[in-house]
Amino acid sequence: MNSAVVTPIVALDVPTRAGAEAVVRQLGDACGFYKVGLELFSAEGPSVVAWLRDQGKEVFVDLKLHDIPNTVRGAARSVARHGASLLTVHASGGREMIAAAVEGANEGRPDGGCGILGVTILTSMDAGGIEEAWGREGVVVETEVLRLAGLVAAGGGAGIVCSGHEAAAVTGVFGDRLGLLIPGIRLPGGEAHDQRRVMTPAAAAAAGARWLILGRAVTGADDPVGAMMAVHAAL
Ligand code: C5P
Repeated sequence: MNSAVVTPIVALDVPTRAGAEAVVRQLGDACGFYKVGLELFSAEGPSVVAWLRDQGKEVFVDLKLHDIPNTVRGAARSVARHGASLLTVHASGGREMIAAAVEGANEGRPDGGCGILGVTILTSMDAGGIEEAWGREGVVVETEVLRLAGLVAAGGGAGIVCSGHEAAAVTGVFGDRLGLLIPGIRLPGGEAHDQRRVMTPAAAAAAGARWLILGRAVTGADDPVGAMMAVHAAL
């Protein structure tokens, strides 16, 4: 048991509302927080967020916004108005853009209930990919993650998305200032699928996670409710 609150979030990685409804119905009370990503949001729009709210669920809208501050402020306001509890932006959009997202989220949800999370370095990128994209040499991924996390903190963001393997370094620098949302979670002995760096729920919690993203470890399990109960038991 970990004394800090760690909240598991199940990713609705499906292309239709019907698919999302099937997952939510199957998990029932075992899951209270869902992630709506680009695929489902692009297919169904914000109505899927409203539907989840109607079911009494919290919603993480993972749109990874990156635009001029004014545009991101408006988008964050709109997403928050639909009742999202978490929204992602790219930290590389800069401190002003992050601050604008925070402002927009607070305008859309004056209760302050929509936190902005910064995506630091996508786990699909390695040092070579960053050097090519940003025109720099000698990139060290962890250094860039910490630098971008600093922008999120300066912009007033609630936290960052990072792999469990970077969590300890981020916590070491930022302590409780940034909540960590960690994907790539697998139950002990579970299949890694296409994820290169996976972690168990207990290990991610010990590394300082605030939220865990669970995809196939739950939705692809023979017994998704049992898998979800195992996640809860590990936290
Ligand atoms: O691999 P799994 O099925 O657990 O993936 C769960 C979710 O986590 C997916 O929605 C995936 O897009 C997301 N994700 C990830 N790695 C990241 C960021 C997000 O797997 N670095």
